[in-house]
Amino acid sequence: MKAFKPRVFSGVQPTGNLHLGNYLGAIARFVEMQNSHDCIYCVVDMHAITVWQDPKELARNTREVTAAFIAAGIDPGKHIVFNQSQVHEHAELAWVFNCVARMGWLSRMTQFKEKAGKDRENASVGLFAYPSLMAADILLYLATHVPVGDDQKQHLELTRDIAQKFNNDFAESIAAHGYGEAFFPETEPLIQGPATRVMSLREGTKKMSKSDASDYSRINLTDDADMIALKLRKAKTDPEPLPSEIAGLKGRAEADNLIGIYAALAGTTKEAVIAEFGGSQFSAFKPKLADLAVERLAPIAGEMRRLLADPAHIDAILKDGAERASAIAAETMKGVREVVGFVGGR
Ligand code: TYM
Repeated sequence: MKAFKPRVFSGVQPTGNLHLGNYLGAIARFVEMQNSHDCIYCVVDMHAITVWQDPKELARNTREVTAAFIAAGIDPGKHIVFNQSQVHEHAELAWVFNCVARMGWLSRMTQFKEKAGKDRENASVGLFAYPSLMAADILLYLATHVPVGDDQKQHLELTRDIAQKFNNDFAESIAAHGYGEAFFPETEPLIQGPATRVMSLREGTKKMSKSDASDYSRINLTDDADMIALKLRKAKTDPEPLPSEIAGLKGRAEADNLIGIYAALAGTTKEAVIAEFGGSQFSAFKPKLADLAVERLAPIAGEMRRLLADPAHIDAILKDGAERASAIAAETMKGVREVVGFVGGR
């Protein structure tokens, strides 16, 4: 297998209501990866418009996700932070991938099925083609590692399928143009830690989600300390005390979720949390969880507010990131054009 330089890429949609799941499953992991890798973090505004977005809200939400990245500890000077639509190669490579991916592959995507619902005839073509654009995001930077929550696993498998099919279909041309045995890497998903799938606080079998009608189902990154404590106090639980062993979480989705959230916030494991709280009532555990959540999240919310008060500063960060991202993207796209047989170039 050809060796590719390790590089991390991941993205978050600016569709409002950034929540604890986005933070623990993705953004907090992005922060960790900065010590060991070159990282590119993208606010994927072109993905957002696969379902209707109010233009003013889209711009506001794009700045809000950027602020969340920075407030959480991502360094846009050392790494790259930008919004997708400023780098036109994403759309360009996505088109090529639309011609590599098969209808059958995309038809099997659960995110499309869930979002399109029963009225598929009325879903946008973009929503169907979404995974091709996501593969383009990643492969444009020849990214080798992608930290995401559990719900993105299928999309990352598809990204590998697209890379493999491109490498196979164009093998001769890839070699002839001096790119060796593979043009694109087989990207590895990084789905790790105790909070890869944070569940709704109202229903332990449903994923915590931006679009849940009940605001009590999620903790938003912009919630203040009182709201965080209130939502955790009201979180659904069962009447039993917390188990003393991990096996005791089986069939207790709400308990499992709260323990996972605690472990992720504390930077430890579910086992360690059980060792500390096994046998406790929820009435004793929930206030400790609330304190920890406030301690971790309130500074982020405060810093987001401060950053959002100066949108021009955020826009400058995105512009600078987009320029640096473009340099890498243009290089990859130049190669893709040669390999595919497109005449000329820019
Ligand atoms: P998005 O915007 O829905 O979510 C952003 C990240 O948050 C994770 N996440 C969760 N993790 C744990 N528990 C939850 N309840 C939870 N909800 C969301 C997601 O897994 C994701 O990592 N398609 C992507 C965005 C995207 C992307 C990419 C990601 C576009 N291009 C390229 C990686 C690489 C999405 O819709 O994420």
